Amino acid sequence: MDERDGDWWRHGIFYQVYPRSFQDSNGDGVGDIRGIIERLPYLTRLGVDAIWLSPVFPSPMADFGYDISDYTGVDPLFGTMEDFDELIVAAHDAGLKLILDLVPNHTSDQHPWFIEARSSRENSKRDWYIWRDPASDGGPPNNWLSEFGGPAWTYDDASSQYYYHAFLAEQPDLNWRNPEVRQAIYDVMRFWLGKGIDGFRVDVIWHLIKDAEFRDNPPNLHYLEGRPPHERILTQYSTDQPEVHTVITEMRRVTEEFDNRVLIGEVYLPLHRLVAYYGNDLRGAQMPFNFALLSTLWSARSVETIIADYEKALPIGAWPNWVLGNHDRPRVASRVGAEQARIAAMLLLTLRGTPTLYYGDEIGMRQVPIAPNQVRDPFEKNVPGIGAGRDGCRTPMQWSAEAYGGFSASTPWLPLAHDFAHDNVVNLEADRGSILNLYKELIALRRGLPELVSGSYEPAVAQGDILLYRRRGEDGVVVIALNFGGQPAEITSSAIGFSNEILLSTLMDRQGEKVEGVLDLRPNEGVILGSPRV
Ligand code: NOJ
Repeated sequence: MDERDGDWWRHGIFYQVYPRSFQDSNGDGVGDIRGIIERLPYLTRLGVDAIWLSPVFPSPMADFGYDISDYTGVDPLFGTMEDFDELIVAAHDAGLKLILDLVPNHTSDQHPWFIEARSSRENSKRDWYIWRDPASDGGPPNNWLSEFGGPAWTYDDASSQYYYHAFLAEQPDLNWRNPEVRQAIYDVMRFWLGKGIDGFRVDVIWHLIKDAEFRDNPPNLHYLEGRPPHERILTQYSTDQPEVHTVITEMRRVTEEFDNRVLIGEVYLPLHRLVAYYGNDLRGAQMPFNFALLSTLWSARSVETIIADYEKALPIGAWPNWVLGNHDRPRVASRVGAEQARIAAMLLLTLRGTPTLYYGDEIGMRQVPIAPNQVRDPFEKNVPGIGAGRDGCRTPMQWSAEAYGGFSASTPWLPLAHDFAHDNVVNLEADRGSILNLYKELIALRRGLPELVSGSYEPAVAQGDILLYRRRGEDGVVVIALNFGGQPAEITSSAIGFSNEILLSTLMDRQGEKVEGVLDLRPNEGVILGSPRV
């Protein structure tokens, strides 16, 4: 990629690395920065353009790094600042951009800012966090709930006030209405941007500002039994407040003090609310993560509706993006099944917008069952037994059939999948028809076809299990036909066009086949059609 290309994030493919689980270089069972450096050649072989690292900063690890006690350091578990500096250089040398996780909504309760804030009501950092008097009955100030179970308020005996935490009590929320907090985090951003990182993925960006009056949230009348308890109330007053957009614009400005950086926002909201995070005049996040595929019913018609709704909701000039998996949600291969995981891959890499892959999805990693005594995730510990736990999607990368999957020389922090000896990078790279090689071919094809990178999205009429669309560029049209079902299908649509050929099938055995007007799809097969390439 051209270093000076300010649009690199539109054209590139992002890959999320969960550092604890990618590659352990020092045999302690936890992945680290040197491990990531060792594995960069794999990422360049895969063909991605940018890596986003989940947090590597000093942390008591109550939420595995999303509880930060020092924003400008590196946790010894992951290595040293020298290792990190080396990673930036090595990634850039390999043509990869490097994105860091910024976690501005909350710190660790062990962060010096919170230790000071807690020390007395008069402390100058007190207002950096959110403190409220008890309600008249002595209970929490309002009905807001923690996303990890229980009330979102913890009582501090020493100062007789409650502090707010949208997540764990060990993750007190910062007060983003305080200008000093803003400046402190903007300086953190400058620190890392100045080192040469290429942008941030901003954790729970829609949470940053809360209602100024701390009004009670309304009940969720559509709560489904078996869902996490915090979903019993809506988050009308605790998230997605209008003032948050001022903050995001300020963050964007900080990134623009440097050349060609990107601001990605983590936002779990319905599409019509999500698109507000592009900001007025697109001065917000360049990529508010679009998580619609993470929770959709997996059917051609549902996915078609999501794409249409998203394309329609996008502000003029806003660039779309798509996500299939992350460290908080069940693995795509488990959500849709191994056969449809190939359809999902073709979908992700042929839709209009920047794709983000989650480590291991490219080798078809599934949700790993976690025995009760192996649970590490605080969410599962606080809210057990309803499938909320996130350990199953965070298990070690399966590199080879060696002990511990080539991930580590000792017992990993989470168990490996039982089938790692078969499903691993070494085996799958050698197997021509593997999902890993499908990902590689999709990525290579996308790279070579401007239609897939920047062409328009045109839906085409299709029935039943078939999803059909075109990507139209200046010089040509590419047709994508995906069979979401287990039955063969025949497509006779004007969308297919004449004298097309199959550029790639998800089953990887029809490349070059001519298609004249009628396309036969096998069960669970997807194809990309285009005019013959020279
Ligand atoms: C979102 C992160 O993705 C998740 O892993 C974390 O637990 C919460 N934010 C709290 O920081």
